[in-house]
Amino acid sequence: MSDSNLTIAIVGATGAVGTIALELLADRAYPAERIILMASSRSIGKKLPYLDTELTVIEAAPGAFEGVDVAFISVSAEVSRALAPEAVKRGALVIDDGSAFRMDPAVPLVVPEVNGADLEWHQGIVSIPNCTTTPLAMALAALGQSVEITRVTVATYQAVSGTGAAAVRELHEQTADVLAGRPTNPKEYPHQIAFNVLPQVDDFAEDGYTGEEHKMINETRKILHDADIAISPTCVRVPVPVTHSEAVQVEFKRPMSPEEATRLLSEFPGITVVDEPQASVYPMPAQASGKDDVFVGRIRKDASHPNGLALWIACDNLRKGAALNALQILDEAVRRDCVKPVR
Ligand SMILES: NC(=O)c1ccc[n+]([C@@H]2O[C@H](COP(=O)([O-])OP(=O)(O)OC[C@H]3O[C@@H](n4cnc5c(N)ncnc54)[C@H](OP(=O)(O)O)[C@@H]3O)[C@@H](O)[C@H]2O)c1
Repeated sequence: MSDSNLTIAIVGATGAVGTIALELLADRAYPAERIILMASSRSIGKKLPYLDTELTVIEAAPGAFEGVDVAFISVSAEVSRALAPEAVKRGALVIDDGSAFRMDPAVPLVVPEVNGADLEWHQGIVSIPNCTTTPLAMALAALGQSVEITRVTVATYQAVSGTGAAAVRELHEQTADVLAGRPTNPKEYPHQIAFNVLPQVDDFAEDGYTGEEHKMINETRKILHDADIAISPTCVRVPVPVTHSEAVQVEFKRPMSPEEATRLLSEFPGITVVDEPQASVYPMPAQASGKDDVFVGRIRKDASHPNGLALWIACDNLRKGAALNALQILDEAVRRDCVKPVR
């Protein structure tokens, strides 16, 4: 972290993303006295280990943001909508993980490696993208440097931690139930997720796409500053605890060789190419979980289109898909001297 004098609030500190945000601050040995943990009234007084001490969770109420310089908010969109303006009013930069402000034209939606410069026009709130959008936007930004991208189709394989801590517990419980021959009791999803695959992430819209799929389309366009890029996603939930994977087909204005794509992806900050298919080496959740980078492999010509490439992505949804991207946004804002809005 470039500036350890900032007082940082983690709002949603007891959740899946908040837990990783605290872990990342610990990795950087961020001073404990500069961290304030907030969650719902249910968690008041809860103690979370931090370095060689413990931090106590307080309720995320408007007054709690007095003296906070940066608030990482990882709660539901509804709660964000109520809390973020209160934090901004008290002088904090809000970096929001949820969907509340992502498509607001007054709010930058940022992946620092792709559109860090958008931070310079924030007015107090910066959003991070959906955890499936971030790795896709990074891969497309890398490839689009050389040849214009015209169309993208993508199928996701999304981990249950993308839904939150309760869904991870549910996967564990259901797995034990199935193995013991007991009936399962789905709560987080419309169907059993253990030993199953659900072609539904979020609710369906009238056009047959889900909310998550619309997020991928709209957010990718906003981050890439490309309102015309054609994107067709199918978002799928799989019984994996952490790390989203994506099978992607990209069509370009003219052909791009797999070799050129590999070079562009390898040179892009935050992307690691893992691509030795003959040795069965490719990105996987078991390898990508707990790592910072977006991993890309299976880079090959698309057999169905002369200007097409196919590739496979894996990215830890809680790190680069959420908490790490949020921290990197703060690093970038410090670097660009725009933690406070440049009015
Ligand atoms: N999970 C991911 O991979 C991912 C990736 C990108 C973005 N996001 C976004 O990040 C946000 C959090 O996701 P998550 O997966 O961390 O969810 P989660 O595990 O369900 O955690 C939710 C957090 O919100 C807190 N909370 C609930 N009601 C609250 C209230 N009224 N006031 C203050 N805090 C409240 C909870 O505190 P209590 O423990 O006190 O209830 C908990 O700390 C969501 O908007 C999600 O869309 C998630």
